[in-house]
Amino acid sequence: MGILRPQKVLSSELGARCFFVHPPEPNKELLMSNPTEAVYLARTSILNVPYYWNFKNLINPHISVVGVTGAGKSYLVKTFLTRANLVWNTNALILDWVGEYNKWVKQVGGKVVSLGKGDYINLLDLAGMKPLDRAKQIMTALEILTDLGHTASQKRAIEDAIENAYKEKGFDLVKKDQKREPPLLKDVIKNLNEIKRREKSEAKRDEINEAISVLSKFIIPGNDYFAKKSTLKVHKLISSGLVCLDLHGLPSEQIRSLAGLTILQFIKEMMRDEGWHPGKGIKLFIVADEAWKIAKDERSDLITIVREGRKYQFSLIVASQNPTDVNKAIFSNVGTMFVMRLLFKEFKDYVRSSLNYSDFIAEHIGRFGVGECAVYQAYYKRTSYSNIFLLSRIDGEEPLITIHILVGDKMDLEFEKESFRRKLLEFGLTDKQVAQISMKFEKNDNRLNIIEIISDLEKFGYARSVVITFLRELGIRDIDITSLFSELQRVKMGVESDKISKLEVD
Ligand SMILES: Nc1ncnc2c1ncn2[C@@H]1O[C@H](COP(=O)(O)OP(=O)(O)OP(=O)(O)O)[C@@H](O)[C@H]1O
Ligand SMILES: [Mg+2]
Repeated sequence: MGILRPQKVLSSELGARCFFVHPPEPNKELLMSNPTEAVYLARTSILNVPYYWNFKNLINPHISVVGVTGAGKSYLVKTFLTRANLVWNTNALILDWVGEYNKWVKQVGGKVVSLGKGDYINLLDLAGMKPLDRAKQIMTALEILTDLGHTASQKRAIEDAIENAYKEKGFDLVKKDQKREPPLLKDVIKNLNEIKRREKSEAKRDEINEAISVLSKFIIPGNDYFAKKSTLKVHKLISSGLVCLDLHGLPSEQIRSLAGLTILQFIKEMMRDEGWHPGKGIKLFIVADEAWKIAKDERSDLITIVREGRKYQFSLIVASQNPTDVNKAIFSNVGTMFVMRLLFKEFKDYVRSSLNYSDFIAEHIGRFGVGECAVYQAYYKRTSYSNIFLLSRIDGEEPLITIHILVGDKMDLEFEKESFRRKLLEFGLTDKQVAQISMKFEKNDNRLNIIEIISDLEKFGYARSVVITFLRELGIRDIDITSLFSELQRVKMGVESDKISKLEVD
């Protein structure tokens, strides 16, 4: 009789009931803030109240944004940073993996630093740290990004080699803030060779050889981004207004991640050193967009920053297409999460298991248009209001034309028109070919079946394997891709019989 028997009730049902218990949106006092101390983003979708982000009500100032490609994550981040800068005059450092922020940062008067184009970071820089601590950090980065450190003895040998390199340059291992020129990666390799020479066990010599060979790749000319004297000053990167550290010129995911991790290690140290100054707003926003390699690993300093950032007034913004690539510690420690459109069950389930929302919210998440989202806020104080609610489209400054790509009858991929055109150009289509596809969208009320696009790509001469890569990039799963190709086959074979049946009808 109306009594819930927990063992018989699915959590999703419970979630749905909560909708009736808690008002679907927080009250105006929680949503609206004085514009001089909060960032306006959008209106709520049910009551149409302006939503201001104000971290004072929240357990911490960290933010995560998830959603499919083209959902509007970067747009949200850009809108947010522009306004946060006006409100608090905060600094922001964007770790830009794919070079999607650099143009915008220049437009709004910020600074772009492109790693891989003449700038270097010396992996052995200390940024004020004790050499002993830095040696451990370097080892952690190597463990996350390479296969090194898999045995205790190999790890010890590498750490010893790093420490020896510092000692040779006159450093005291346990002193901070020593004003000397730090050693370079080649000095570490030299020390590893010496340790190898003294090593009696053949197995251990092999392990050291492995370390030498991995580290040697980082000093090859052209790949030596971490092997020379630093040209970047980290304290400048985080205190010069809006700065984009463009990593896309670096040759591999591993090198980009090493750069990202190293910068974060330095920032964490500075954050702890600066201590806590009660004051207005936030000192620094650090943005990691699609930085999956450094957002996933437990040992990454993104996670330390999430855990400790609040007391230092540092805020982390993590955006990702693939929530399962973001460590749960990040999701469970952020004060705000923007959930934009999600399509795959696996991703939806992952996010839902962290945020625990109702069916009502879940249904919307699968259907959001570009720029729309649900926002989850972890309030400082308990409230009787729902802590997750829907926002209308993020109110930025750019106009929006959306196109729809239909995949079978269950998937409708939405893209902003210009961004889809860019994807096609990046994929290698000529301007003329892009125009041809764009025209089809225009004629068709901006909707097109993916089959039409695939058959155009085949007509343009793209091999099937290349087309598959493109479909994956649009966010289509392999099993759906397989059925698309069989459908394409059916369409091709069906053309003739179709013509015949049409004739008969005529
Ligand atoms: N709220 C919005 N209003 C107007 N235009 C928007 C809005 N959100 C996104 N767009 C436009 O949609 C396109 C895709 O948005 P965006 O680049 O932010 O997506 P994304 O989620 O970051 O995708 P990806 O994962 O591929 O980086 C861009 O051209 C952007 O300008
Ligand atoms: Mg993006």
